[in-house]
Amino acid sequence: METIVSSVAPPNIALIKYWGKRDDLLKLPLNDSVSITLDEKTLASTTTLVLGAKLGKDRFILNGKEGPDSHIAEALLLIRRRLGKKYPLIKKPVLLLSSNNFPTAAGIASSASGFAALAQAVAAAFGIKDKKEISILARLGSGSASRSVFGGFARWKAGRNKDGNDSHAVQIAPRSKWPEVVDVIAITNPERKKVSSKDGMERTMRTSDLCHCRLGIVGKRADAVTRAIRSRDFSTMATLTMRDSNAMHATMLDTWPPVMYMNDISRAIVYAVHEYNEKSGQTKAAYTFDAGPNAHIITTRKEAGKIARMLKKIPGVQRVIMAGVGEGSKAVETPKKTKQLLKRLLS
Ligand code: DP6
Repeated sequence: METIVSSVAPPNIALIKYWGKRDDLLKLPLNDSVSITLDEKTLASTTTLVLGAKLGKDRFILNGKEGPDSHIAEALLLIRRRLGKKYPLIKKPVLLLSSNNFPTAAGIASSASGFAALAQAVAAAFGIKDKKEISILARLGSGSASRSVFGGFARWKAGRNKDGNDSHAVQIAPRSKWPEVVDVIAITNPERKKVSSKDGMERTMRTSDLCHCRLGIVGKRADAVTRAIRSRDFSTMATLTMRDSNAMHATMLDTWPPVMYMNDISRAIVYAVHEYNEKSGQTKAAYTFDAGPNAHIITTRKEAGKIARMLKKIPGVQRVIMAGVGEGSKAVETPKKTKQLLKRLLS
């Protein structure tokens, strides 16, 4: 008999970014990062994991397409290494089905939601309840995924240990602390990025002088953003968010050869947000960009409609998606459609 488990996990948006590793394989970061977990009803990966079936080899079906995936294969290898002794079943071939409720082509990072969902499914299979452990399992897939395990606002502690056992996320505030926060996402380029986060950050660490300057101040900024979240101080949170996004992208430009993820439309959005805040006489919105040109505008429910209208007017903005604060990864019933598909696949 095989074990079949399913899970759902959302992406998250980092206010204080992770850009640089102290261990490439285990994905141990050089600095703490802080993020908002997005609402799983708007954006999520749903994953089903089958363990113990007579499969012969690992099989991955992503968004309906079956094929090899070196990133998932590496994550599984690391998860097996970590859990194999205690849970030998994980060493057997697995069937993994995962799909996103948002178009993969929208350019929204799916590795955070995808690997948090995988970790949550593995945890469900073996009855692992400790969120810290689930966060570590997610981190082995993609660093940023460690934060999607927790709902509300999360901080991924860089840790110091070589084995990474102290490098996991913690919740700094639940959703209920600040449910009015919204991420208004402007899609400016739905294509896949040319340089992956993994390669980009490795190159920045190797060649940028500026990145050492950012690493010197980012810990203090993570502390300050944590305090701002806990005291619902929007303007401090917003200012630090914009400054850390700019600082990270500055280190990318300082990389040799440079990595540039933002485009002219992203820059037009930066100016528009500053103008919006200036006209409001208050910092009511903050932009932040990951390793791509799509803008995340952090604001409140009250402002979100106005911000969306402003973004839609900017030439080149193709689509606007609004996501609130979410509850993090969780185990779910296997969807009916997946059960039917599994019947065919496993017969
Ligand atoms: C810019 O988590 O995708 O989004 O650990 O190599 O898989 P790997 O990288 P990944 O990097 C995310 C970088 C970022 C900032 C952030 O989310 O903190």
